[in-house]
Amino acid sequence: MTDPVHDPRFLQDPYPAYAAIRSTCPVQPVPGPDGRVSYLITGYAEAKEALGDTRLSKDTDAFFAGKASRRRLHPAVAHTMLASDPPRHTRLRTLVTKAFTTGAVTQLRPFIVTVTDDLLDRWPAGEPFDLVEALAAPLPVLVICELLGVPQEDRADVRRWSAELFAAGEPEVIDAASHALADYMTALIAAKRRGPGNCLLDRLIRARDADDRLSEDELLSLAVLLLVAGHETTTDFLACATLALLRHPAELDRLRSDPNEVPAALDELLRFDSPVSTATFRFTTQDLALGGTDLPAGVPVLVALGAANRDPRRFPDPDRLDLNRDASAHLGFGHGIHRCVGAPLARAEAEIVLRAVLTRFPGIRLAVAPERVQWRRTRLLRGPASLPVLV
Ligand code: HEM
Repeated sequence: MTDPVHDPRFLQDPYPAYAAIRSTCPVQPVPGPDGRVSYLITGYAEAKEALGDTRLSKDTDAFFAGKASRRRLHPAVAHTMLASDPPRHTRLRTLVTKAFTTGAVTQLRPFIVTVTDDLLDRWPAGEPFDLVEALAAPLPVLVICELLGVPQEDRADVRRWSAELFAAGEPEVIDAASHALADYMTALIAAKRRGPGNCLLDRLIRARDADDRLSEDELLSLAVLLLVAGHETTTDFLACATLALLRHPAELDRLRSDPNEVPAALDELLRFDSPVSTATFRFTTQDLALGGTDLPAGVPVLVALGAANRDPRRFPDPDRLDLNRDASAHLGFGHGIHRCVGAPLARAEAEIVLRAVLTRFPGIRLAVAPERVQWRRTRLLRGPASLPVLV
């Protein structure tokens, strides 16, 4: 398989290619752009098994040890908890999970509602505009900045660096953005030490300073991870979910006539077009067998969550968006110890947004043919680069 980022047809609709790969073998070797082999998992059962298998490591330091790399990613971006194994992962994760309990997310809801209403107030009537720019991109970054305590005036910069980090751009641009973000967060942590408040970042700083439960590097990397992980993913989800509904008028009608069904619909929307199309890479720490395929030690493993969520062995008629089905077993938020910490927050955002859009703009429609929608060129994530709509 060539690098899919360069294939517009794959970006537009990766599912036929995934289905073809899955039907040959749900776990199979694929050559990477540099010729090195990784293993791609496209089956649901195999994906779930891989995500729960402790013989697959996420400790990138261990994987890259001794390998030459010209990359200059800031260590705070390269060495997050998402790139670590227990016991380090367990300690870091415990510190953040509290911030994302249902109770904590409930407190953020009024802010999410206000920002959503504010953005919708500015939508032009009767002329096409880009829903990504007018809603899906700004909302999540504003929410995560609010959660972390990033001041208003800095939010545009933070959004740009985070976008650069995820675009499949030049490695130098990505590396530079990682440094800009980490430097910014270092300064913000210093500022908060001078004038403490009560947001999530302040709580993490206290865990560092008062209880010595994390190192300075870990504090910085948690702050950066939350910012980055909570932003682009949610943007893509808001845009993918809206597009899916606009392409399925009967399902859209159902939600329009009863917006209380929106929370229950989120699982199927996440299954149907998964924003984290491929989970972050893992690697084998020993020879092992996965779904009947033998994998040698020391190879990267890519779990295609988007493909697993369309596996007909788990979800019959998988290419059909069906808000009636029980899709709660989808892998859109991952599975196992690295399962998304921010899932309750992402759900709250999507619910508030879809409810508001359907209530205020019941006549919303696409302003281009669906096949003309341009997709972002990213390896991990999947989402429209822009979504022209009319209200
Ligand atoms: C719809 C939106 C989102 C989706 C689809 C999503 C998806 C995911 C997935 C698939 C993983 C696991 C990756 C892997 O195992 O390789 C993950 C991990 C993570 N997510 Fe999310 N995410 C979303 C929103 C958020 C938000 C809003 C936040 C925080 C503000 C967040 C924070 C995290 C963190 C910190 C991790 C790492 C967890 C760990 O290593 O234990 N995510 N997310």
